[in-house]
Formats: sequence, C-alpha cells, structure tokens
Amino acid sequence: MNSIKIYTGQRKGVISKHIYGQFSEHLGRCIYEGFWVGEDSPIPNTNGIRNDVVEALKKINIPNLRWPGGCFADEYHWKDGVGPKSKRKYMINTHWGGVVENNHFGTHEFLMLCDMLECEPYICGNVGSGTVQEMSEWIEYMTFDGQSPMAKWRRENGRDKPWKLKFFGVGNENWGCGGNMRPEYYADEYRRYQTYCRNYGDNKLFKIACGPNSGDYHWTEVMMKEAGNMMDGLSLHYYTVEGDHWEDKGSALEFDEKGWFQLMKHTLLMEEMVTKHSAIMDIYDPQKKVALVVDEWGTWHRVEPGTNPGFLYQQNTLRDALVAGTNLNIFNNHCDRVRMTAIAQVVNVLQAMILTEGGKMLLTPTYHVFDMYKVHQEAELVHSIVDCGDYEFGGEKIPQINVSASVDASEKLHVTICNLNPNKTADIRLDLPDFKPSAVRCRILTSDTMNKHNTFENPNALTPVDFKGCAAAQSGLKLELPKMSVVQLELSK
Ligand code: AHR
Repeated sequence: MNSIKIYTGQRKGVISKHIYGQFSEHLGRCIYEGFWVGEDSPIPNTNGIRNDVVEALKKINIPNLRWPGGCFADEYHWKDGVGPKSKRKYMINTHWGGVVENNHFGTHEFLMLCDMLECEPYICGNVGSGTVQEMSEWIEYMTFDGQSPMAKWRRENGRDKPWKLKFFGVGNENWGCGGNMRPEYYADEYRRYQTYCRNYGDNKLFKIACGPNSGDYHWTEVMMKEAGNMMDGLSLHYYTVEGDHWEDKGSALEFDEKGWFQLMKHTLLMEEMVTKHSAIMDIYDPQKKVALVVDEWGTWHRVEPGTNPGFLYQQNTLRDALVAGTNLNIFNNHCDRVRMTAIAQVVNVLQAMILTEGGKMLLTPTYHVFDMYKVHQEAELVHSIVDCGDYEFGGEKIPQINVSASVDASEKLHVTICNLNPNKTADIRLDLPDFKPSAVRCRILTSDTMNKHNTFENPNALTPVDFKGCAAAQSGLKLELPKMSVVQLELSK
C-alpha cells in the first residue's frame, strides 16, 4: 500500500499562476494558422485571430504567453512587424523550415491576442542579432505614454495608449541559437542590455535573463554571481526526449513500454535540475528574490510522418499527459523558487495544448491536464509526504506516483496525483491529519492504451471523467489509482 500524508496546516507559499504559462513562437503552424488566420479567413476570427483557439485557452486560465520565440526571438526585428501589413518587410525564418515570414503577426497583433486571452504578455527581446537600441526602443514603443519618437510611431500605427508589459526576456538560449555565447560573455551582455530596458511611468518590467540549458550548472553559477542582482528571473530550458541522447527522439504515437518508461524517467530529471539550480541560486540569492523561470519544457518527439521537419508538429498521447502532470507537480512543489514556466508550445508545436487542421481544432490530453491542474493557480502549497513503491522496467526503477497539494482561498484542498506505471494500479492511503473532508470531487484522465490520443475524426477519445476509485477511510481517503492515470481531487470541509 502506498501512502500520501497531507498536512494542510503546513503552508509552504503560494503557487504562482504563472507556473501555468504557455509559449508561442513563429514556428511551423503555431502563430500562423494556430492563432492568426487573417481577417478575411473563412475560419471564424476576431480581427484575424481565430475564436475557437482563444475560447479553449481561456477555459484553462492561461496566465501568460511567451513570444516571439525561442530561437526566432534572436533573429526577430520588431520594427519589421508594425505598421500597414502590406508594407511589412519579409524575412526568412532560418531556424524553422526556412519559410518566408511576412511579419503580418507583430507587436500589435500579439498584444491584442493577450488582451483577448486575458493573460500577461511575456516578450523575449533579441540579444543574438539585435542591438541594445533596438531592444530599448521596443520597450519605449510598447510602454511609454509621453511624447517620444517611438510613442509617436505607435500612435501613428493606431494605438494611442501604451500597453502594460511586465515580463521581458533579455535574449533566448544565448548559449546556443541565441549567439553561442559563453556564460561569462552573456552575463556582461545581459548587464548591458537590461540597463536600457527602462521602466516608463508605472510600468515595471520583470526582467528575465537567459538561464541554463538543462543541467549546465556552471551557467547558473556565473549568471547569479555576475548579474544576479540585476534580474528578476533566470530561465531554465529542459525538454523531455525519449532516448538517452538529444538526437535520439522517439515517435509520439508508436512506442512500447521501453519508450514509456524512458520518457517518465527523463521527465523526473526535472526534479533534480530544479533542485540543483535552486541550490546554486540560494547561495547568491538566499532571499529568493530571483525566480527560476522554466520557460521551455515538455516532450520533444519526432515530427509526425509526412510533416515538415522544421515545423515540430507532433501528436500528443496519454504518455504526454503524464509528463505534463508530473512536471506540474514538480513545479508546484518548488513554488518558492519556480514562480513561472512556459510549456513548449501552445498550438501545433511540440507538446501542444491544441492541434488544428484548417478550420478544425482538437484539445490534446496535455490540455486536459492543464484544465485539471488549474485549481492550483494562486493556491497555497501544503506539505505532502509520499511513501510509494517503484515502477520497475528493464532493471531500472522510478517512483510509481507523484503528487502536489494546495489549499485555495475558500479553503478547499486540491490534490493532483500521477500514477506512472502502465501495468499496475496504485492503492493509496491518503492521510489528512488536520483536514476532515465532508465532500470530495474527483476527476481522472486515463485509458487502457498507452498511446491513446485525440484525432480530428475522434477529438474526444481521451478526456477527463469522474473518478470512482475514491472512498472514505479512517483518517482520510482510500484511493485506487488506475494504471497510467492523472487524478485530481477536490476536498471541501
Ligand atoms: O521550442 C522550440 C525551440 O527549442 C525554441 O525555439 C528554442 O528556444 C529551443 O531550443
């Protein structure tokens, strides 16, 4: 019997809603088709942005949206993407398929999208191929209310009042696609660029520095030492791939138990990375002023056969749902340092919430996990202790279950649990020493098939349903968590 003990009296800080953030890049069919279809499209839209996608994302309370990249951010020149669309400059999207980018979706369109989604924009500036002046003028263009060249230009382009902009990234992956810099060099560049990211009026930027790739602890060390006092957040990118090497990606749909196990094992490395990067940050920032911003995470599989390799379009199964649930549990449990994340990416790219095909749209299993977990947003993390058996495969083992728990403003307790074992039910005793529930609501996402997924022909093949395997026990609950499942419990006093 596995056991989970939850101490609702031991509050461990607020789970920021920004842990549930999303990422949208000019990559494949994320921006174009995923969001932007243009005003003249037969697909129902508002000012060029498709309505179905916006409606679906609003339901999961997306708190922030990162844009324009990714690697694209460090070759994006924002001035090419404002003003009359017919006059906007074309460019080649060299990172992603070499396609021609017409810049029809630019600053105004992105900020309009964020208004429609009722979420905070998170803009990433160009360090790799841009200039300090270009970055500084972008912020002036978006946020300055007075008389200035950039504010005047914004008004000429149809926007009188400045936007509110909080989250601003100073470059992306500057250790790689963002300029192949060494941390010592980037730290100095970061110091210089961020100096000119001004706060105009009452707009206060939350500046996010480019952080490490996965387990590159040296990068974190250098950044915290050299520039820790000039940033609000340090990013971390870690993707889950099936194989043991980056090149060794697996298929999203066709995998056996080895592929299942490997992906779970690699996902759990997020716990180690967050812990170790946080420990380094603690040395330079014991008061935890700087947030660890995991602004790219999720599964990276081979592209769907027959699709453009540069478009990173992949299907999404129950296995991806377990990856999402496990990562979100890890982030919730580290909410003292992890205060913002963005899964890659929101529509049609990598571990997406939504897939589209022309006018059709489907919600992925990962979307449903975000829907089930949204109850944790802005709730207080409570102390939980898990004592569980292992899931063993091929001579290796990982913990069978993982969990996070929070109490919301109305004192409801929310618990999310993942059973990573595709063969075995997890019998769990859930002890609640200081919480006597009088009502319990449970939902579950599961299937008998490891690669269960939604298709345009059958978009509701895998959706959450009520969970019946939950019964009252002496000091809490008894749960029978089916193999490979994500469960969400809501307990009221
Ligand atoms: O999300 C796809 C790409 O992965 C991003 O552009 C880049 O930052 C990362 O390498």
